Parts: sequence; C-alpha cells; structure tokens
Amino acid sequence: MREYDLIAEWYASERVDQTGVPEATTLALSIPRGSVVLDVGCGNGIPITRALLSGGHRVVGLDSSGAMLANFRRNCPEAFAVRGMIQSCPFADCVFDAVVAWGVMFHLNSEDAIRAIANVSRIVKRGAPFLFTSGDVESFDGKEGKMNGVTFRYFSHSVNSYRRILGDHGFTLADVHADTGHNTYYLAKKAEPRS
Ligand SMILES: C[S@@+](CC[C@H](N)C(=O)[O-])C[C@H]1O[C@@H](n2cnc3c(N)ncnc32)[C@H](O)[C@@H]1O
Repeated sequence: MREYDLIAEWYASERVDQTGVPEATTLALSIPRGSVVLDVGCGNGIPITRALLSGGHRVVGLDSSGAMLANFRRNCPEAFAVRGMIQSCPFADCVFDAVVAWGVMFHLNSEDAIRAIANVSRIVKRGAPFLFTSGDVESFDGKEGKMNGVTFRYFSHSVNSYRRILGDHGFTLADVHADTGHNTYYLAKKAEPRS
C-alpha cells in the first residue's frame, strides 16, 4: 500500500504504544521457540515483530511499503524482510508455524480479505495459529480516514463472516476480543492433521 510510503516517518513517531504486544506475546508463548512466524504488514517492526523476536522466534516481515520496510530492516536486522502484498502472497505452501497481521486486514476490500485468508491458509502448517486485527461489523463502503493528511480506506467483515470465511479455509476461530483502542483481535487455528 503506497500510502504508507508517505507516512512512514510519521507512523514511526506515533506507533510508540504497546498495542497488540500482549496478544503477540501470548501467541509467541503458545508455539515452540525457534518457530518461523510471518508478520503480515510488519510496518517498521515495532512493536509486533520485536515481541515475536523476543519470544525466540525466527520472523519474516511482509509489507507492501518500501519505506516501512526500510525502517523494519533497521529496527529488526535479525528478521527477514519481504516486500509484497498478502493478496498475492510470495511464499511456498506449509512453511510458517504462525502468522500475525496487526493493522492490515482492515485495509483490504472483501475480495482481497478473502484472498489474504486463503493465502495464509496455504502457507501455514497444520495446527498453526493466525492472529489478526480488523473491525467487527460488515463495512465495505471503504470508509475514509486520514493519517498525517493522507487518506486511507477501511473495510471489515463482521465476526460471523470472518468465522465463516476462516472456516471455509480450514481455520477454526478460537477467540475474538477487543482492546481499549477498538481493535478487534481474531485468533484462528488451522486444522490439525487427522490422526
Ligand atoms: C497500520 S500499519 C501496521 C504496522 C505494524 N503491524 C504495527 O503493528 O504497527 C499497516 C501496515 O500494513 C502494510 N500493508 C497494507 N496493506 C498491505 C497488504 N495488502 N499486504 C502487505 N502489507 C500491507 C502497510 O504498508 C503498513 O506497513
């Protein structure tokens, strides 16, 4: 998303809170140390990639903004940085032990959100957790919002729609909760192998 190129430095100065860190840390603790975790829309890596690295994991950051990724490489030199979009996901099948997507899904329209979930389903191993934030009501008119004078569009499915779409792609929705900043967290789990 090119809009983030325009606000990368401003975003770095604003995103100094720890929002999302408790959820990312809980996920990090739920998988074995050394797991391979994809941070979708990793931004500059602070604070979510940092929390995953602190959990002892190997992290790949995927982001569509070159400017955000330049800061990511500086902040998290031990992580891998990949430029790309989750809708056209450049990874092989079944390679990640977990996926986190903080603050990304609400930028995707309905079709792209479904494509993103389908891609995450393809690239995770069975049993892997997938944590993402979004809204919790069906909203596809592309509501506008501004960050530092730049216009962004926001979309969301409802909780029931996310549950259905996740289910269609082999995930079970295990938890939904909101934080004080009105982010809704979805924690889904890819089906385990049949025994
Ligand atoms: C609100 S920021 C969140 C950054 C970081 N996760 C955090 O916790 O601060 C959204 C990030 O997602 C990236 N992004 C937006 N759409 C994307 C897409 N379709 N695929 C990959 N990254 C995307 C943006 O470039 C931006 O860095």
